[in-house]
Amino acid sequence: MTDTTSNQMWGGRFAAGPDAIMEAINASIGFDRRMAAQDIAGSRAHAAMLAATGIVSDSDAEAMREGLFTVLSEIEAGEFRFSTALEDIHMNVEARLKEIIGAPAGRLHTGRSRNDQVATDFRLWVRDQLDAAEQALRALMRALVAQAEAGAEWVMPGFTHLQTAQPVTWGHHMMAYVEMFGRDLSRVRDARARMNECPLGAAALAGTSFPIDREMTARELGFDAPCANSLDAVSDRDFALEFLSVAGICAMHLSRFAEELVIWSSAQFRFVALSDRFSTGSSIMPQKKNPDAAELIRAKVGRIFGANVALMMVMKGLPLAYSKDMQEDKEQVFDAADNLMLALAAMEGMVRDMVAQKANLEAAAGAGFSTATDLADWLVRVLDMPFREAHHVTGALVARAEARGCDLPDLSLAEMQAVHGEIDASVYDVLGVHNSVASRMSYGGTAPAQVRMQAARWKERLG
Ligand code: ARG
Repeated sequence: MTDTTSNQMWGGRFAAGPDAIMEAINASIGFDRRMAAQDIAGSRAHAAMLAATGIVSDSDAEAMREGLFTVLSEIEAGEFRFSTALEDIHMNVEARLKEIIGAPAGRLHTGRSRNDQVATDFRLWVRDQLDAAEQALRALMRALVAQAEAGAEWVMPGFTHLQTAQPVTWGHHMMAYVEMFGRDLSRVRDARARMNECPLGAAALAGTSFPIDREMTARELGFDAPCANSLDAVSDRDFALEFLSVAGICAMHLSRFAEELVIWSSAQFRFVALSDRFSTGSSIMPQKKNPDAAELIRAKVGRIFGANVALMMVMKGLPLAYSKDMQEDKEQVFDAADNLMLALAAMEGMVRDMVAQKANLEAAAGAGFSTATDLADWLVRVLDMPFREAHHVTGALVARAEARGCDLPDLSLAEMQAVHGEIDASVYDVLGVHNSVASRMSYGGTAPAQVRMQAARWKERLG
């Protein structure tokens, strides 16, 4: 006789139920309930296929499909009672189906296993996240393009080593992030295309002796094809790792931009004003407006990258095929996905609301001898000087301005000619920051005309 406390799904060879600690370490229902919709979609497709292939009767399949629909509505309405004793979402759903439709529920698991079931559910879940990430990235990119178009010709300092390097345009800086998020978007699409094969029907690990139609279930669930090897189908989680890796790179880009916003919104820079909607105050310092959203976005890359490392470690030594270790995949991916979506949405909101401080940007753009390279280029172009010599002469002029405590355009022609006799008044044309950026017309350069061209190109692509 089977002990009544043993598992109703697989209790046949068990005389006793699990220890409470065993139940606690074993159960995944606390988190995999998030895959309920995917689990039910997979089961509905499986039931339809079982009928189409004559493995179960049409009436049994219809009862299963209807019953599964009822289970889904109960879950969505928050009326479903999840049971830890039933371990996971797969067994919770099936047990409830049995309560609703009775005996036919027992035929649903024909020709499949929880191993292909969980692999299918999780792929569907990750695929939904990739689709959501695509939408969120597009929204963020549209917000950046709008900022770029508004400020295509506003000048600001461009930095290397966070030291003033050359003037650039606000629009150019915004479009740099559009390029980065554009590559994230293409990584999202690549990952989606690569993962879109269906594990369902791989069964426990070896396939099944039932005449199932894997093409049908794959098609029904929006996959491009069934996975071609049953061992691989149930036991790899590279699609989840790829999602985490794509998410990690995207979070890194978000973090760099967030860092710039933190710097730019400081009282020392005052390059941007962030909106109240994405800032907080201090409980003690009344003047404070803190860029908390940017700081939190900056931090998200830590946990997202951490999830990638954690899952990589879970997977690295596992022999084929399924091992329970793989149950540890979900929480990492859920947490990373939640935080990526939150970070993308918060960044989009901040970008939409932020106001570039045009006058401050312009004042900073001319400071720090930012047009020294333009001066050296002028010496090469107009006086036909070798660049190395021009670099040296410009260095001497910078030293002079520094000694006088002024900027390059403030040096008189006589002072310039004292350094090099052939310099004439036309040199002043290249010392202004607006002329400087306008001259950088090389493809991909910072000139407003280039920025407008790139912004228009992206606008068309983003729709
Ligand atoms: N909850 C399990 C998981 O997430 C489902 C698969 C269980 N398979 C098994 N053979 N015990 O991985």
